[in-house]
Amino acid sequence: VQLSVVGLGKLGAPLAAVLASAGHDVIGVDTAARVVSDVNAGTAPVVEPGLQALMTSAGGRLRATTDLATAILATEMTFVIVPTPSGADGTFRLDYMLQAVTAIGGALGGAADHRHLVVITSTVMPGSTEGPIRAALEDAAGRPLGDDLALCYSPEFIALGSVIRDMTHPDLFLVGAAQRAWGERLAAVLLSFAPERPPVVHLSPVDAEMAKLAVNTFVTTKISYANMLAEICEGLPGADAEKVAAAVGLDTRIGPKYLRPGAPYGGPCFPRDNVALSSLARSLGGTADVAEATDRINRRQASRLAKVAVTHLGPNRTAAVLGLTYKPGTPVVEEAAGIAVAAALLDAGVSVTVHDPLGMNAARLILGNGVRWADDVAEALDGAEVAVVTTPWPDYAGVAATPGSRTVIDCWRCCTEPAAAGVTLIFPGRATPTLEVAPTA
Ligand SMILES: NC(=O)c1ccc[n+]([C@@H]2O[C@H](COP(=O)([O-])OP(=O)(O)OC[C@H]3O[C@@H](n4cnc5c(N)ncnc54)[C@H](O)[C@@H]3O)[C@@H](O)[C@H]2O)c1
Repeated sequence: VQLSVVGLGKLGAPLAAVLASAGHDVIGVDTAARVVSDVNAGTAPVVEPGLQALMTSAGGRLRATTDLATAILATEMTFVIVPTPSGADGTFRLDYMLQAVTAIGGALGGAADHRHLVVITSTVMPGSTEGPIRAALEDAAGRPLGDDLALCYSPEFIALGSVIRDMTHPDLFLVGAAQRAWGERLAAVLLSFAPERPPVVHLSPVDAEMAKLAVNTFVTTKISYANMLAEICEGLPGADAEKVAAAVGLDTRIGPKYLRPGAPYGGPCFPRDNVALSSLARSLGGTADVAEATDRINRRQASRLAKVAVTHLGPNRTAAVLGLTYKPGTPVVEEAAGIAVAAALLDAGVSVTVHDPLGMNAARLILGNGVRWADDVAEALDGAEVAVVTTPWPDYAGVAATPGSRTVIDCWRCCTEPAAAGVTLIFPGRATPTLEVAPTA
């Protein structure tokens, strides 16, 4: 199938490459000339593991242009993956989306015999696809949706750092289509790049939009639930929330994934999706109590980590924050735990040194000159009375085993044990002292 992908960012560029390597002819469209020239030179325009290899293997099936109209008219299906930034009220703004959809409609308006399916992949507020997006598309195209013009909503469930794997091995595909026949056409394209042929759930666009938000907010609720257990267990002599959560997760009604105490969640999706659901509920006269509690626990978790760090400071009041990206494998620092912990420590008057293998440049724009920037882990640990490991980068496995006189707070239990002499290793969610259960023979 001839496909176009509008918006070649952190999600769009991997999708374009995945589609091309599944054998489709793909034209990527972006307003940024640098992104387009990167793609045409065969270079990954964003940092994402596996993207470069996939682009190389896609060869001539993937090209890019800034000329949206030509791309639309040369293809039969368009995925729109432009930014939908959060507004002041927490809802997702449609400015870029409506601009893109209007341009797509305009291109299609001049070609009455061209059949086209527009697929909205960006995260949007429930009601957007059949509401303002549909209106903009129909207005610009000069005709209503029908046999030759269709609109679907189909989000991707991906996490940065594992976008390509998540995209090609999803638990499910969500297809939100008002017209089932078009939904089936979209499903065939989605299944073409998923070797395990996951179930395709056909929904109305608004139900698909709602399901996308619900998945993300439910997952964040599991994280905050585990951090709530952590808060309780830390005050309960001998308790360890990690062990409790691991046991709870074995109940198949619950499941172990994302049910781990430690760092708060961050990144470009989880925090804002949660806030958007609350905002949606309020706009409808209700409240999303669970989503609101989830967000409150998440914010408190960062300040709790900073408070624990402060209690372990020595006379120099020096701390290291290791990990500024919201997860390993990505340079993205948006809403990351490390940034929040570093900021809370600065507020408490602590001298903070930070390190991250990939996120330093982005973090500099947020943390500025208030912190010391370490070039490597050893420099970060040098003189630090407390080190907080906030992202489980493999680089930090040796932090607790590095000799020195300090406390290491390992949010991910990712440090190799035993800790070196002089190092006190503590885990969020574990009360001290812990009761170790002797292994049975
Ligand atoms: N990044 C994620 O983890 C993730 C996960 C799920 C969903 N999403 C959603 O996907 C959407 C895109 O996110 P992203 O992280 O890929 O954004 P991004 O900022 O990395 O990339 C967006 C790209 O779109 C381009 N663009 C903007 N307006 C355009 C236009 N009118 N025409 C063509 N190109 C245009 C930009 O130049 C940029 O290259 C958002 O709605 C986001 O919520 C992102």
